[in-house]
Amino acid sequence: MRYSRIIGLGHHVPDRVITNDYLSTVMDTNDAWIVERTGIRERRWMDPGQDTVANMAAKATRMALERAKLKETDIDFIVFATITPDYFFPGSGVLLQRELGLDGSIAALDIRNACSGFIYAVSVADQFIKTGMYKNVLVVGAEIQSTALDISTRGRNTAVIFGDGAGAVILQASDKPGVLSTHLHSDGRFAEELYVKDPGSSRPHAERQPEQITDTSTFKVVMNGNQVFKHAVVRFMEVIQEALEANKLRKEDINLLVPHQANLRISQYIQEKLELNDAQVYNNIMRYGNTTAASIPIALSEAWAEGKIKENDLICLAAFGSGFTWASALIRW
Ligand SMILES: CC(C)(COP(=O)(O)OP(=O)(O)OC[C@H]1O[C@@H](n2cnc3c(N)ncnc32)[C@H](O)[C@@H]1OP(=O)(O)O)[C@@H](O)C(=O)NCCC(=O)NCCS
Repeated sequence: MRYSRIIGLGHHVPDRVITNDYLSTVMDTNDAWIVERTGIRERRWMDPGQDTVANMAAKATRMALERAKLKETDIDFIVFATITPDYFFPGSGVLLQRELGLDGSIAALDIRNACSGFIYAVSVADQFIKTGMYKNVLVVGAEIQSTALDISTRGRNTAVIFGDGAGAVILQASDKPGVLSTHLHSDGRFAEELYVKDPGSSRPHAERQPEQITDTSTFKVVMNGNQVFKHAVVRFMEVIQEALEANKLRKEDINLLVPHQANLRISQYIQEKLELNDAQVYNNIMRYGNTTAASIPIALSEAWAEGKIKENDLICLAAFGSGFTWASALIRW
């Protein structure tokens, strides 16, 4: 049986730290509100001229390659999860390929499944490896959310939550189990509960011509926080249970849960339901906010570097986000 294993992890975040106190100088909010409702203390926002989605992804990739003891040319395929590509098109996969100095001999695929994007990308990479098509697949999640936020009191329910960053893993073919299973779901009935409408294509021609656009609010992140929260707590639990049942494992078997960093209260709710202790759940939302598709690979990379992931551990990844989409993965390390 052919499996895929994570053999290298890396991450990169912008240098610019945005504290809750800073945000309280540009909108009506405060540190106490943000910490109590979300757990976030600070996040990183890109420096224009320095950070792009593709170059942050390249930095994360180089760290992952170094840890895997591989070089750029060992990569057979790129799967890039982002909903904030540098360009409207093409996607960021080809830009990363260029940043890495790779020529046209490999393919790059873009995944747009928001906060679940990284697990979707792992799932896709896993299938390509299992079928024998590729040996080393680079899986990336990278985002610049900050430039689409409404950084004013009007946009405070989202502006305080999102951050920028990139994470990467190298999945390699192996005859030993690694990724045990992945579980993917979506429900488009809730698409508009968390979305950025523009630049959408299905509008009258005049409304999409930049010089005619007078209302630019539709270019910003819109979120119905209560709805997202309510669905997230249910779907996170369901999809984790689904993964455990598929592998005939129990919640007690999980060594480390790395949930998408949506909100510390959501992570704590899942932790309580699964009866996991603090050491069994990795959270870094305090430092980075919600970095969408980048959040799980950044957290995985940090957890591994801190020695929290050991050989043979059972690692559970779970995510929920825009779409709605939700997903989980169980990995034997
Ligand atoms: C966004 C979220 C933190 C808001 O928390 P909440 O407890 O639901 O708060 P509400 O939206 O009900 O707002 C409560 C009040 O706080 C206010 N508020 C919103 N953002 C605020 C901020 N940054 N600072 C201060 N007050 C704020 C609201 O205006 C509202 O005021 P009102 O009662 O006078 O109308 C919460 O809904 C959440 O985390 N949802 C999930 C978000 C998520 O995970 N998104 C990513 C999914 S991948």
